Amino acid sequence: MTVEWARGGPDLLVALDRGAGPLGIQIQDQLRAAIRDRRLGAGERLPSTRRLAELLGVSRGTVVDVYEQLLAEGYVESVVGSGTRVAATPAGLPVPHAPGVVAASPVSSPSLPAEVDFEYGIPELGSVPLTDWSRAVSEATRSLPTAELADEDPAGSRHLREVVTAYHRRVRSGCAAAQDAVVVSGFRQGLALALATLAQHGIQRIALEDPGPRDHDVIARRAGLDAVPVPVDDHGLDVGRLRETGARAVLLTPAHQCPTGVALGPSRRRDLVAWADEVDGVILEDDYDAEFRYDRQPVGSLQGLAPARVIALGSVSKTLAPAIRLGWVLAPPRYAAGIVEEKRLSCRGAPGLDQEALALLMESGRFDRHLRRVREIYRARRDVLAAEAEAAFGPGRLHGLAAGCHALLRLADGASERAVVATAATMGVRVNGLGRYRFAAADAEAEPDPLPPALVLGFGNVSEHQISRGIRVLATAVRRQTRTLGDDNATPPP
Ligand SMILES: Cc1ncc(COP(=O)(O)O)c(C=O)c1O
Repeated sequence: MTVEWARGGPDLLVALDRGAGPLGIQIQDQLRAAIRDRRLGAGERLPSTRRLAELLGVSRGTVVDVYEQLLAEGYVESVVGSGTRVAATPAGLPVPHAPGVVAASPVSSPSLPAEVDFEYGIPELGSVPLTDWSRAVSEATRSLPTAELADEDPAGSRHLREVVTAYHRRVRSGCAAAQDAVVVSGFRQGLALALATLAQHGIQRIALEDPGPRDHDVIARRAGLDAVPVPVDDHGLDVGRLRETGARAVLLTPAHQCPTGVALGPSRRRDLVAWADEVDGVILEDDYDAEFRYDRQPVGSLQGLAPARVIALGSVSKTLAPAIRLGWVLAPPRYAAGIVEEKRLSCRGAPGLDQEALALLMESGRFDRHLRRVREIYRARRDVLAAEAEAAFGPGRLHGLAAGCHALLRLADGASERAVVATAATMGVRVNGLGRYRFAAADAEAEPDPLPPALVLGFGNVSEHQISRGIRVLATAVRRQTRTLGDDNATPPP
């Protein structure tokens, strides 16, 4: 790795690391940083693009792009006849860090607040049925028997457990009954409680999808389990590789893999259950967005296929809103009591009035009506996303669109996810690269197999107009990154 220092103007040092990603982005980052911490003061003149290009050994086009970007962001001003100068009030510029941009990265970039936020996992917040919810809460407040305000059953209210298991049987082809259900504060709490219970049952190792949802490996380790990755391919989790891990538990997203969007294929589903029988194992089914399927009927829950082997976890974070913090665990009898005890020890129970409100909302039919409404919103957004992505990137680049509210945009081989993410952030578009969903190995030596570069596009809370704009910005970011790479390759350092 070569590090070069070049004097690019008064008190200005730009360090380029030619092994660390696009040079244009490195230059941008460093000029912004110099302006922000006043090493370059207001009104100070920057070197001409030709001069800076010569000094740094990059193409002039790279420096022109850098200056244009800084101009667009308000860091510099361009005055006819006197070149490019640091803007008069650069210190007042908003320069928040874009979440999703790794701060220590050599290609990280401060950004303006995102105008288009493709952050994964956020449902359509403008359509959360707040009026129905407040009606349900007030009905719950009026109707809940006073006795139930005293002590909460740690398994959750009988009423809600009956309602969610009926819902799971009706909508997800499950077969659990109220006594198999534990009400929890969202999926994550359910996962932590279930894993603590499995550890009590002597299960020491759990396999997780790679790439897969973030943080779940951390939650597994905190529960005392050894967490190991299993690759995901076009048919979902690779059960052959699962067999090699020696794990007796696996956590997966079979209906719509997070983040690749594939559904677990039929033969994989059967093979997975056969594996669980062979090792006396447990399948933890993260059923997070199965309600949203567009092209055909949702794939039924694994819990209905193998109730003795599957712990199914659900929540209303995707169907209503993450802030409601209610979910459920449907567990085989041998684990259910342990999960209830973990729940009792950790927080005694779930909020009683909210549980009753959710039960009433689901029973009234308004929950289903809400799902029908948002499904149509997501379907329309998905169609716009597909059309825009095809126009901007060509056919076959967008994957995982059959269900849910996120998709995977495959970039050309050799593209740098991090550079595209950082460039898009400077243009007001927030997005994450697939790399962010790689399994974080506890053992730093264990290098995961490389995956083709891709972006994960959450479109649940992004309007159709924003999707169109966001995709165009991403296409520009990709073009810039490709051009910068091309320029850098074409112009060797002096
Ligand atoms: C993969 C996955 N699982 C589960 C959930 C739900 O998590 P929670 O109920 O803790 O909000 C989400 C929400 O975004 C998710 O993306």
